Amino acid sequence: MCGIVGTIGNPDTTNILLSGLQKLSYRGYDSAGIYVNDQKGHDYLVKKSGKLANLEKYITPEMQGMVGLGHTRWATHGEPSDANAHPFKSYDGRYYMIHNGVIDNYQQLRDKYLQGIPLTSQTDSEIIVQMIAKFAHDDHLTTKDALVKTLKLLDGSYSIIMVDSKDPEKLYVAKNQTPLLIGIANGFTLVSSDVLAMIHYTNKFIEMRDKEIGILTADTQTIEDYDGNVINVKPKTIKLDANAADKGAYPYYMLKEIDEEPVVIRRLLTNYLNQNGEPQFDATLIQRFAQIDHLYIVAAGTSYHAGLVGKAFFEQWANIPTSVLLASEAGYHMPLLSAKPGFLFLSQSGETADSRLVLSEINQQNMLSLTMTNVANSTLAREATFSLDLLAGPEIAVASTKAYTAQIALEAIFAKALGIANNITTAKEFPLKQQLSEVANGMQTLVDQKDKIKQLAHDYFADHQNAFYIGRGQDYYVSLEAALKLKEISYIHAEGFAAGELKHGTIALIEKGTPVVGFVTDPETALPMRSNVEEVIARGAHTLTIAAKSLADDTDAVIIPDVATLLTPLLSVVPAQLLAYYASLERGLNVDQPRNLAKSVTVQ
Ligand code: F6R
Repeated sequence: MCGIVGTIGNPDTTNILLSGLQKLSYRGYDSAGIYVNDQKGHDYLVKKSGKLANLEKYITPEMQGMVGLGHTRWATHGEPSDANAHPFKSYDGRYYMIHNGVIDNYQQLRDKYLQGIPLTSQTDSEIIVQMIAKFAHDDHLTTKDALVKTLKLLDGSYSIIMVDSKDPEKLYVAKNQTPLLIGIANGFTLVSSDVLAMIHYTNKFIEMRDKEIGILTADTQTIEDYDGNVINVKPKTIKLDANAADKGAYPYYMLKEIDEEPVVIRRLLTNYLNQNGEPQFDATLIQRFAQIDHLYIVAAGTSYHAGLVGKAFFEQWANIPTSVLLASEAGYHMPLLSAKPGFLFLSQSGETADSRLVLSEINQQNMLSLTMTNVANSTLAREATFSLDLLAGPEIAVASTKAYTAQIALEAIFAKALGIANNITTAKEFPLKQQLSEVANGMQTLVDQKDKIKQLAHDYFADHQNAFYIGRGQDYYVSLEAALKLKEISYIHAEGFAAGELKHGTIALIEKGTPVVGFVTDPETALPMRSNVEEVIARGAHTLTIAAKSLADDTDAVIIPDVATLLTPLLSVVPAQLLAYYASLERGLNVDQPRNLAKSVTVQ
């Protein structure tokens, strides 16, 4: 969490930082700050709680510089406040620093090294800059040596950008377990947690690895390990349409991203199917995963829900028993594993700390892994045995939509490939290309029903603080995701339930007017599902049903086109995403930046 950006060598530093922070706001937005230095003896530090727009009010025309750093925060230690916002200044006024990550041993370090040094914040981050200043002063170390001495003492995760105001011709950076990329532009250098903050200026990047420092000038980028050995890294060209991350005419990214869902499904078909419509993947990837005896899907939040939907593909098409694990639990309570396990990490960001902990543990045991992620160069992609790109394009809204459907579609294509490799008839015969094409068309008809869904959101959610989503089988998993979407962006308390479970306790919460959304897409469970809807109607619930066309009756509010039962989540989730979107709008909330959340969850 937290977004960081720095630059050196461009007189437009302030604007570069502010536009970078705008692009990074999805990583946290409870406070923001910048430091700029004109390399002629003038410098400026501004940091404010609240969103970036609040910080911008305090930026005055003279705040220009040739080097600078900017931070947008998601609070871990210390409430969102001006004092806890970054950048932090060292006690002697020499160093300015921003940090993304968590320093686990900050209290021990503070007690051991910073006695008598006045701290200005409640954060774990501030101790870093204070220790650097202390070591530089007391031990007469160069800035670089003081930085490395400090880094060697830190336990935890960090990306750091720092300026020494006595020598502002350099920008110092360091990384461990959180992302940091250096951008090489024409005559100046950038650095940030995400290429999105730099892509308007360059597509040439150096990916820093853990426990490396960088010393950057306008036209040089020197990378070293902590022992001072210079590391020669070749910059990579990253292809990303600079406009892909723009909102265009949309009021919110979330609406744009829901609208993009059909395109993303078609893109996956083009990229992962051959001319005959059969899956095409790296042969070794398929060969190795076809031999596993159990698949463990590891993910968090929405990605976990995509894993739940995918379980049936692997079991029914590839004959591989599959367990879906919450990353935050698996990191500490791994189930008893099978003899030949394979791990599938699902992660939009590729940086989720809970998932990374699991991956690093299974890597220590040399176990097979695959990451499906929307960020091709992310940590989970780099550290797994194999990785596949979700190809969804940048997802900026904090609430994940198109990455969820991309994960499900890619799981389906991959499961079919494994089934074919293992000669399983159900996989060979399943017309996946035709079915996913129908899904894409069906998504288009659903996203075109915005006015109707907006009205439903008004009718059902305007006056209520509690809602339930119910379904069976795949519909149950969609219920979990639908409830999460509503909760996170509208702040309405919502629960997803296996419809049959409701009467075992939770039905006590249904009262007159309680909104209950039911999904009816599976012919095998349609009848008991309809009975469950009747049970809540009998207790006063205000029900809204989303049904597959062939199972629909005239009480249903939204009809989704018929596709194979296993794939229906790809369609039924779309009206649920739109319901959440309009419920949030109706309440006048910031749909893209809900309170307390951030998109890339890099803390455990
Ligand atoms: C909710 C949402 C989160 C993420 C979760 C995992 O809309 O986006 O629940 O799914 O934080 O993140 P990733 O997929 O980046 O690993």
